[in-house]
Amino acid sequence: MKIAVPREIRADETRVALDPESCKKLVALGIEVAMESGAGGAANFPDQAYLDAGASLIPDAASLLGSVDFVLKVNAPQARPDGTHEVDLIKPGAMLLASLFPTRNLDTVQRLAARPITAFSTDCIPRTTRAQAMDTLSSQASIVGYKGVLLGAIELPKYYPMLMTAAGTTLPAKVFVIGAGVAGLQAIATAKRLGASVTATDVRPEVKEQIESVGGKYVGIDLKQGASAGGGYAAELSAEDKALQAKLLADHCATVDVVITTALIGGVFAPKLLDETIVTSMKSGSVIVDLGADGGGNCTLSKLGGTIVVGGVKILAPLNLPATVATHASMMFSRNLLNFITAFWDKDAKRFNLDWADDILKGCAVTHEGKVVHAPTLKALEQTQGGKA
Ligand code: NAI
Repeated sequence: MKIAVPREIRADETRVALDPESCKKLVALGIEVAMESGAGGAANFPDQAYLDAGASLIPDAASLLGSVDFVLKVNAPQARPDGTHEVDLIKPGAMLLASLFPTRNLDTVQRLAARPITAFSTDCIPRTTRAQAMDTLSSQASIVGYKGVLLGAIELPKYYPMLMTAAGTTLPAKVFVIGAGVAGLQAIATAKRLGASVTATDVRPEVKEQIESVGGKYVGIDLKQGASAGGGYAAELSAEDKALQAKLLADHCATVDVVITTALIGGVFAPKLLDETIVTSMKSGSVIVDLGADGGGNCTLSKLGGTIVVGGVKILAPLNLPATVATHASMMFSRNLLNFITAFWDKDAKRFNLDWADDILKGCAVTHEGKVVHAPTLKALEQTQGGKA
């Protein structure tokens, strides 16, 4: 089997789907690996490192993608600057493994089905213990939480830690984390390590202990209806619970220096939790870091991908934060993909085993044999006017 790894073409992307270390492990399995020249450059992996790992280099994406059985990517394929589409460069019948976010990229999904490509999306991998090592959502979310806290620290006109100096004592900054999943827990732990006083909330009551275990103080409300949707995902709150939560957020945000939001519904879409009333009740100089920006933003005022100041409150809504930690983000992403391929690699036959009885393979398959086969994506297509599966 031959695997290709093209250079990512998304404008703000610096990651690569395969680092030299994981490349070497694929080659050791008997897999041929071809990299597009320069694919790892922005993540600080030079071409020579891939050659040393046993890969070959191909100078252009068209000849690379048209000649292989399996493609690894970070992002969903997209239109190229020359007007062609990445999907149309991939050999029909080939397999693709990437973080497709299929419900956010319905047009690409339809193209993949039409080509036809068998596409697997790492962000749809079921959340089971066996699948944890393949879960790009978690490996990348952890980076988002870490980097988001650092961005907040840079913008805050205060120290995070308590400092006792000859010029007097500064109190620790108060950081409030909304959403305590993978990104949120990493945000709590990072803010705590920097010396902040950290509170956090979530709509899944089971996270209280997890918040406390990384040094945060839980603040929460008793929801009238449960919000756990299984697999660690949250469902949208009922209107009654939304009102209860809005009151908690309004009261608490007014008392803190930094608010970090990481809330997502179903791991994909960001619920709107902070509105103008809450923002303008916050102290001048305080900072909101809206880490739900990739999912549409948790704050109604956020300028996605930018920063604005409202009433002295700075609101940051950075997109694609993992790309700002390109080396480690790529290493983690690569290991996730390597673990997926290894799980289905038939050593004797030297081929990828399409085991449709396996819950992981079946759960993350998005397109196969000309059809969209992923239930939530099919539902999203049905809801889209004119969507055809
Ligand atoms: P996510 O990215 O879907 O959501 C982030 C957080 O936002 C979640 O904790 C969610 O409950 C919270 N949230 C949603 N709506 C909210 C609202 N209105 N207000 C406040 N918070 C809100 O979730 P993530 O971070 O990917 O994972 C959540 C959990 O799933 C993890 O803590 C872990 O326990 C579990 N998990 C299990 C895995 C496995 O077993 N393979 C892999 C990844 C996660």
